[in-house]
This record gives sequence, C-alpha cells and structure tokens, in this order.
Amino acid sequence: MKGIVLAGGTGSRLFPLTKITNKHLLPIYDKPMIYYPIETLVEAGINDLLIVTGGRNSGDFLRLLGNGKEFGLKHINYTYQEGEGGIAEALALAEHFADNEKICVILGDNIIESSIASAVRDFERQERGAKILLKEVDDAERFGVAEIKGNRIVGIEEKPAQPKSNYAVTGIYMYDETVFTKTRTLKPSARGELEITDVNNAYISEGTMTFSYLDGWWTDAGTFDSLLRATNLVNATRGAKNRQAEPARAGVQG
Ligand code: G1P
Repeated sequence: MKGIVLAGGTGSRLFPLTKITNKHLLPIYDKPMIYYPIETLVEAGINDLLIVTGGRNSGDFLRLLGNGKEFGLKHINYTYQEGEGGIAEALALAEHFADNEKICVILGDNIIESSIASAVRDFERQERGAKILLKEVDDAERFGVAEIKGNRIVGIEEKPAQPKSNYAVTGIYMYDETVFTKTRTLKPSARGELEITDVNNAYISEGTMTFSYLDGWWTDAGTFDSLLRATNLVNATRGAKNRQAEPARAGVQG
C-alpha cells in the first residue's frame, strides 16, 4: 500500500503562527508536526510516500525531509497543491502516484499515540472499497461524525451542529483505486472545498466502507487549542516513557 500525507492549506485558523510558514512545519513538542503522520505510516510498514504540500514555504518540506533518511526511507515523493480547494482536491493530485494501488491517506495535522498497522493489514485483505478509523470524542461537532447502526456505518456528517454520535472520523483514510473517479464527481461544499466526507459517503452508498476504532489518543492540531493539546499529549506520553527509562540510566551512570 502506498501512503499520502496531505500537508497543504494556509492554516488560517492559526494566524499569525502560519503567516510566514506552513502549519505542518510548526513544532509539536520536539519535532515538526509533519514528522508524526510520516512516522505513523512508516511504523505501519508503508514506505512509498507522497507528501502533498501547498501554501506557504512549501520548499521547506524538501529541506526538512529530503529523501526521508531520518525515517529509514530512501526516497520521498512531493507534489504541490495550488490554492485552497480542500482535502479531496489535494488527494486528487495523488492519482498518478497511486497508479491503481490501494492508498492510505493521513492528514498532516493528525497525531496519534498508537499504531495503525493492524487496520492497514486488514485493509490489505479487504477486496475493495475503503476503510476509516473512528475515535470517540466529546467535541464531535468539530469533525466529520459517523452514524453507526449495528456494525455498519450508514453516513457521515461534516461538522454537524447536532452530532448523531460521539464518533469522529479521524484523518486517516484507506481507499482502493476508485477513489479518484469519486473525487472527480465532487461539488464544492458551503465552505468552498471538496470534502473528504463526500468521498467517504460515496463509499458508504455503494456499501464498501468498513471502519475500526483507533486505539490510544488522537488529536488534530489546526487550532490554538488543539495545537497545545497535541504538544501536551506528546509530552505526557514521552515524559512517561522517559521516567520509566530514568532509573536504568541513573543506574548506569551511578
Ligand atoms: C477534516 C475533515 C473532517 C475530519 C478532520 C480530522 O476537518 O473534514 O471530516 O474529522 O479533518 O482531523 P478539517 O481539519 O478540514 O476541519
């Protein structure tokens, strides 16, 4: 499976932090934001990556990431999204790269604690369609929200005022090659963007969407509050690991 990290956009909700740089280059604890989604894909065994950049200073991605040596990669592909057409428009730019293979797409501001490896393996075995990962949240109106009946997902609403569940659709999506015919039929939403939720609903309508629940914490980082939350979550997780390692280190030194 190939991996696509979507890292375009102007990050307007983070002005002035994003006035001179791209949102995905901002720090989350001790690393630039984009490191986290790349690590998520690589940890799941996905090594063939495309980064879709755009907005400000997109050349900095190349300087920062190069050929991906830091992640154990030999090569990274890059492409550029002109304008602000939304997540599904950014995804449409990946058609050539995907070359009829299955893809795993991750939004560049989605940071998670655990592994997606088992969901990726499950989707490799899935004959066709799509798979999304859901997470229970207490502010579902900020996200795409899944309506679930029994073990089926029957629809997704983008940022509903009255969410039908507490299950947010995380920014990790797996698609078969038909995703690109679906993105071609989309019409811009009220916010003037091609919505990934419309792509997902197209799979739900044809009955080929599966889902699983994401383990561990999940956050986006596109607002001041979520950016801080992301840093605090990484710090708390890292801090706990460091504290476990400390007695051993002290033993070696002492
Ligand atoms: C986007 C998607 C939304 C999803 C979210 C996850 O929202 O449109 O469905 O739940 O990412 O981070 P946006 O960040 O564009 O507001």
